[in-house]
Order: sequence, then structure tokens, then C-alpha cells
Amino acid sequence: MKFSKLTLLLIFGFTIIFILISTICFYTIKSFKSSKTAIRPHIILIVADDVGWNDVGFHGSNQIPTPNIDALAYNGIILNRFYTAPSCTPSRTALLTGHNPIRFGLQGIPIAAGENLHLPIDVPTLPERLKELGYKTHLIGKWNLGAAFRNVTPNGRGFDSFFGYWSSYISYFDHEGRASNMTGFDMHSDFEPAWDTYGQYATHLFTEIAEKMMRKHNVKEPMFLMLSHLAAHSGKNGTELEVPDDEENDRIFGYIDDVKRRRYAGIIHEMDKSVGRVMEILAERKMLDNSVVIILSDNGAQTSGNLGNAGSNWPLRGLKMTVHEGGVRNFAAAYSPLFQKPRQVNNDLLFIADLLPTFYAAGGGNIENLGPMDGINQWQLLTENARSKRSEVLLHLDEVRFTAGYISDYGRYKLINGSTLSEDYDLYYGEDGRGNSSPPYNINAVINSSAYIAIGKNIPVDEMLQLRKEATLGNCRKPISPDNKCTYKNWCLYDLFDDPCETTNIASTHPEVVKRLGEKLTEAWKYLKPQKPKIVDPKSNPIYNNNTWFTWLDD
Ligand SMILES: *[C@@H]1O[C@H](CO)[C@@H](O)[C@H](O)[C@H]1NC(C)=O
Ligand SMILES: *[C@@H]1O[C@H](CO)[C@@H](O)[C@H](O)[C@H]1NC(C)=O
Ligand SMILES: *[C@@H]1O[C@H](CO)[C@@H](O)[C@H](O)[C@H]1NC(C)=O
Ligand SMILES: *[C@@H]1O[C@H](CO)[C@@H](O)[C@H](O)[C@H]1NC(C)=O
Ligand SMILES: *[C@@H]1O[C@H](CO)[C@@H](O)[C@H](O)[C@H]1NC(C)=O
Repeated sequence: MKFSKLTLLLIFGFTIIFILISTICFYTIKSFKSSKTAIRPHIILIVADDVGWNDVGFHGSNQIPTPNIDALAYNGIILNRFYTAPSCTPSRTALLTGHNPIRFGLQGIPIAAGENLHLPIDVPTLPERLKELGYKTHLIGKWNLGAAFRNVTPNGRGFDSFFGYWSSYISYFDHEGRASNMTGFDMHSDFEPAWDTYGQYATHLFTEIAEKMMRKHNVKEPMFLMLSHLAAHSGKNGTELEVPDDEENDRIFGYIDDVKRRRYAGIIHEMDKSVGRVMEILAERKMLDNSVVIILSDNGAQTSGNLGNAGSNWPLRGLKMTVHEGGVRNFAAAYSPLFQKPRQVNNDLLFIADLLPTFYAAGGGNIENLGPMDGINQWQLLTENARSKRSEVLLHLDEVRFTAGYISDYGRYKLINGSTLSEDYDLYYGEDGRGNSSPPYNINAVINSSAYIAIGKNIPVDEMLQLRKEATLGNCRKPISPDNKCTYKNWCLYDLFDDPCETTNIASTHPEVVKRLGEKLTEAWKYLKPQKPKIVDPKSNPIYNNNTWFTWLDD
């Protein structure tokens, strides 16, 4: 066959045009796609365990310096009225489902190793939701939401990778988890026991794993990292507060008289360094520009008693396990360059269940896909300085231990219908950390911290000190009168705006408010699912599995 010159020229011309058009199409589609994906920020959620309100520097105590956490807080938004449930499993249930734990019967005391209790299989979790949006999801550290069979462990519930422990706490060095009379090694890399990590200090180990994970992460994909610390739970035997080096600890924190609290300070110190390291790596990998970092405690400190850690909720009243402020009003701060009005103390009412819809919205998800939910999307509060969409919160309702708490009127009133397991937990505990025995607040250490340097903004010292002042509660404590002991027979009502220390029970002078909030509790009873009995299954005993905790039931 022969082509004329003209035909050849035409074929050549069309080919060129075709190539040009397809190239343009390809790049248009590609840039459209990447502009769509660019809005999905990396989400880094750092969860501290049993850390008290007064144990971060930005709430005004000088006793335990937390320069990295403070740097994050001053550069971001201090969430000053952030509420959780009063203990770990209920709090983390709310966090990971966006629902109130009473809907699933998980309102009781935390799941112990060897118990066949877990998140409801049919309720999507936060990482499952974020995976829908294309996120890679990782949990490092504590789970405590069930491990009887594979489908209920972190790997079964939406985390692409897991490194950590399934039970409520372990020892810091030998990673031993306990339940009734059983003990076993509980450090797992996905489902494999990580025996080679035996002896490594948990906070260091988790930070190292987080570092490796972030270095491996393809930065073009959105990442959800939940770094769920053992710090500052009590460790070995449920009583020991373990630090990397006792002598070094005494040298740094020798000014703290109480040895237990001195060790607690060391645990916080290591966690604070971890926060700095995470920020450093995010910056190094150029991920920080498109990240949201949130740090919070799952519940208040257990200053003394069972699993006591010498943490301090000063000046707030009550310990972990109570619905008094010390148990449920927790330190929290969020940082992101995406926030339009950072460097502020936000006093709006927030609840831990809000994080699921908030993160889902952050990732570009349509909130309507989530269906009805107790959690409320607060992404506009963070990014656009909008007001909280929350006016009330059910803190807790425990039908076994006769405990309930409800906050209403945008955070003003709290009704308590029974407070705790043990009346002792309702009192005032914890050191104020403000006396002469502590060194003065070192703002230079904040400026010098890894987190501050990673963020790379210069904030005037006065501004940081002003934020700290705004985030600090003065000593509002008063002796507790007999009518101010809250049982299900003697209800308490507080005006938290005027009385954050819950010194004055105003139930008798505000019967209409008591009635209104009582009705709210009655509503909640209607959807409460009763708790299942807490039974430790002898078949779970680690002695059957090389002294290591394992999933002992079939899916
Ligand atoms: C552990 O406790 C259970 C009951 O809680 C008991 O049946 C079992 O014999 C105990 N095992 C050991 C080794 O003491
Ligand atoms: C272990 O804990 C129990 C209380 O649970 C306590 O009585 C005992 O002294 C502790 N042992 C050590 C070595 O701390
Ligand atoms: C108050 O608590 C008691 C004990 O749990 C319960 O029987 C009662 O229904 C509660 N009332 C309300 C309104 O929640
Ligand atoms: C700043 O950090 C460096 C190294 O981390 C340290 O040597 C120095 O003492 C710190 N300065 C202040 C004021 O904390
Ligand atoms: C049993 O556990 C030890 C660590 O305690 C480990 O070195 C060993 O490989 C394990 N054995 C088996 C058969 O898995």
C-alpha cells in the first residue's frame, strides 16, 4: 500500500493532536484528584492514660514540666472543657464509636484481660470510618476494648497495623498484663507476640515504633495514627510507677518529696519527650503542614487507692471512676496549621465521642453517612473558630454501681445521681505544684522544645503566659459539707461556671433544674444496654500459650 505525502502528514498531525489531548486530560484528572485528596489531613491522636488535669504545665502547675505538650497547646487550641467518661473502656468506646458507651453495655469498669467483652461488631469504628476515606490507620499502644477473638482486636476493628497491648495496662519493662490470678506477656505486633521487646521501656518502645511507622508511610496518603500511651498508668503489679532510670529520676525530680509522685513525674517527662519526637518527625517528613494533632487524657488521675498513680486533678474534685470534674474534665489540646484561629483557650463544651465525626469531617467525609450519633462534628470549632454545637453531655450512667452524671446548658449545670464505687474517691486529692518547692515555670524550655521548633512559629512569651493563665483554675476548693456528698439518694447539682470545684450543692435551691436534668437521665435509661457480668475465662490463661496473652476464642 502507498500513502500520499498528504495522507502521511494528516496521520502524523492527528497522532500529535491525540497525544497532546490525552496528556492534557491525564494531568487535568490527576491534578483534580490530588486537589481533592489534599484536604484530607493526617490525624495524629495521642492518648494519655490516667493523667491528671494538673499534670501538664499549661494548666498552671510548675511541678512537672511538659514543654513539648505546652508548645503544642500554645500553638494550637487548648480545649479547656473537654469531657470524657470516668474510666478507660467507656471513654475509649465513646472515642472509637462516636456513641455513648451505655448503648453497648460498656459503661462499667474497664474490660479485664481474659474477659469476653468487646466493642459491638456491627458498629463501625473510627479507623474503619477513616479507611472509607482512604486513610492508612495505625494503633500503637493500649487497646482495652476486647481481645477474646481476632475480629474484636485492633486489627479486626479497622487498624491496618497494631503494635501494643490488648489489656488495660501492662508493666513498663516486662510488658506483663494481669487479670485476677493470671499473668502473661502482652506486647503484640499485630497478632504476633513481640518477645524481642521484653525489657524495653514502653514509652520509648511506642515512640520508636511510631517513628518507624511514620517513616514508612507514603506521605501522599492520609494517615491516622493513634498513639495510645501506657503513661501514666501504674505499671508492674498495678502499683509500681516505673521510670527508665531511678537515679536519674531522683536527680531531675528530687524536689518532689513523695517518691511515687516523683516517679510519676518521670513517666510524664518521657511521654512529653515522645510528643516532641512525634512532632519532629512529622515536620521532617513534611507532613506537619497537613496534620491535625490532638492530645488528651482518657480520664482523670487515680491519685491513690487501687491502681493509684499519684497523679493530680488539682483543684478539681474527685478521682478517676467518679463523675466529679476530676474524673471527667480532662486536659486536651489540638494543633494544626489548618486552624484559622490558633493560640486560644476554648471554653466550650466538648465530649470525647465528638472526635469520630470531627475527624470524619476533617477527612472530607459526609457526616450524614454516619447516621444518628451521640458524638457531634466539631471540625468548624477547630478550623473556623465556630462555637461548640454541643449544649449537654451524658457523662456516665452505670446501673451496676448506681452512678450517673449529666451536664447541661452549655456546660453550666451538672446533675449527679450517685457518684462512685467508693465515697473516698469523691474527695479532693492531688498536689497543686505551685509552692516554692517546685522550680519556676520555664518558658525557655517550651521555646527550646522539639515540638516548638518543629512547628516553627515564634509566639511572644507574654502571649504564651497569658494563654497559660487563661487555662489555669485557681484554688476553688472548700471543705465538703455533708449535703455535698452525692449518692443516688442525695442528688447533687452544681453550677460549674461559678463553682468548678463542686463545693456547693444547689439541688435544694434549684428544683426545676434538677427535675429537667433528671428527665434527661430518665431518657438515657431507656437506651441503656445492661452490662454483662464480668467473668474472666479460665481458658484465656496465658499458661496455655507460653505465658503470653492470646485470642482464645474462634471468630
Ligand atoms: C484462679 O482463680 C480461679 C477463680 O477465679 C480458680 O478457679 C483457679 O483455680 C485459680 N487458679 C490458680 C492457679 O490459682
Ligand atoms: C502488689 O500489689 C499489692 C496490692 O495489689 C500490694 O499489696 C503489694 O504490696 C504489691 N507488691 C509489690 C512488690 O509492690
Ligand atoms: C438515680 O439512680 C438510681 C440508682 O441507680 C436509679 O434507680 C434511678 O432511676 C436514677 N434516677 C434517674 C432519674 O436517673
Ligand atoms: C535547650 O536545649 C538544649 C538541647 O536540647 C539544651 O542543651 C539547653 O540547655 C536548652 N536550653 C534551655 C534554656 O532549656
Ligand atoms: C516462648 O516465649 C519465649 C519468650 O518468653 C520465646 O523466646 C519463645 O520463642 C517462645 N516459644 C514458642 C514455642 O513460641
